[in-house]
Amino acid sequence: MPTCILAIESSCDETSASVCVDGKILSNYIANQTVHEQFGGVVPELASRAHMQNIVPVVDAALKTAFPQLLTPNSRLQTLDAIAFTQSPGLIGSLLVGAQFAKSLALSLNKPLIAVHHMQAHVLANLIGEDKPGFPFLCLTVSGGHTQIVLAHSPLELEVIGETIDDAAGEAFDKSAKLLGLSYPGGPLIDKYATAGDPLKFKFAEPQIPELNFSFSGLKTSVLYFLQKQEPGFIEQNLHDLCASIQYTIVNILLKKLKKAVQQTGIKNVCIAGGVSANSGLRKGIQAMGEREGWKTFIPKFDYCTDNAAMIAITAYYKYLAGEFSSIEVGPSARAEW
Ligand code: KG4
Ligand code: ZN
Repeated sequence: MPTCILAIESSCDETSASVCVDGKILSNYIANQTVHEQFGGVVPELASRAHMQNIVPVVDAALKTAFPQLLTPNSRLQTLDAIAFTQSPGLIGSLLVGAQFAKSLALSLNKPLIAVHHMQAHVLANLIGEDKPGFPFLCLTVSGGHTQIVLAHSPLELEVIGETIDDAAGEAFDKSAKLLGLSYPGGPLIDKYATAGDPLKFKFAEPQIPELNFSFSGLKTSVLYFLQKQEPGFIEQNLHDLCASIQYTIVNILLKKLKKAVQQTGIKNVCIAGGVSANSGLRKGIQAMGEREGWKTFIPKFDYCTDNAAMIAITAYYKYLAGEFSSIEVGPSARAEW
């Protein structure tokens, strides 16, 4: 009998649902919340309210797409073998919506519940599809809240071997973008403007941090001081070059540490994951470095880079195979270690 899992992701400002059957993703619906744009960042209270509005239609759409031959909601729900949800980390009000929905469903259908760690799921997004890395592999996980180098021994044995000591790479993109007057989230906008810019036009500080750790708070300060010295109108006239130079600096910091991690571990299966892995400079950069250094590189499809429930579903599938189920008492947690 195939194993069918419904997964729900609601850790921040995307409401997403996905169905996977034997590790194959059949659907992945994502409702983005545009309400935050005007505030320059995610407003937790508005995020939870939007999750409440989105969750039923998003889950319904994911089930209908996965099982088009089943005509009633009940028949689709009865096909499921487990319900998975993002338990941590994230905004507590947002996590609560997904957790309560998943727990209610599991309880009413009498199906097992699987709690998933969001950062583990970002890494395992690389196991979706045909072209996946063998174990062990290294993964540079770069999102709005985290920047980590992870050594994956097996799907459920992940070891963080390096991480940021302050801001995450996504924050470096978003905070720099804010200084340039760009709207939130600024990462994709920097990426867009950078394509027509000169990455070597402006130089920004690269931190010297020991081991495999990162620091991005100095970059934001370096961009701020540089902009304060310029004449009015400078940003508008140099937007493309500024974006290209900021992106180049962030990507350089990331790739240098990834190269060090490969040298230290001898592992040449190398992946990227998380929202920032959608960045075209990073995607091209890791491919080029992989070719030069003889690595096998893996990059998730765009839809599986930023927050999505397919990555929760694939992680839940491996947990299901290992018999790692959760008690119905389990609650969400804003912060959580692996
Ligand atoms: O993984 P994610 O969707 O959510 C978190 O778990 O944090 O990552 C969101 C981050 C934001 O900082 C956003 O600006 C960044 O990913 N991001 C990008 C790009 N697309 C998303 N940063 C640079 N270039 C992009 N194309
Ligand atoms: Zn994420």
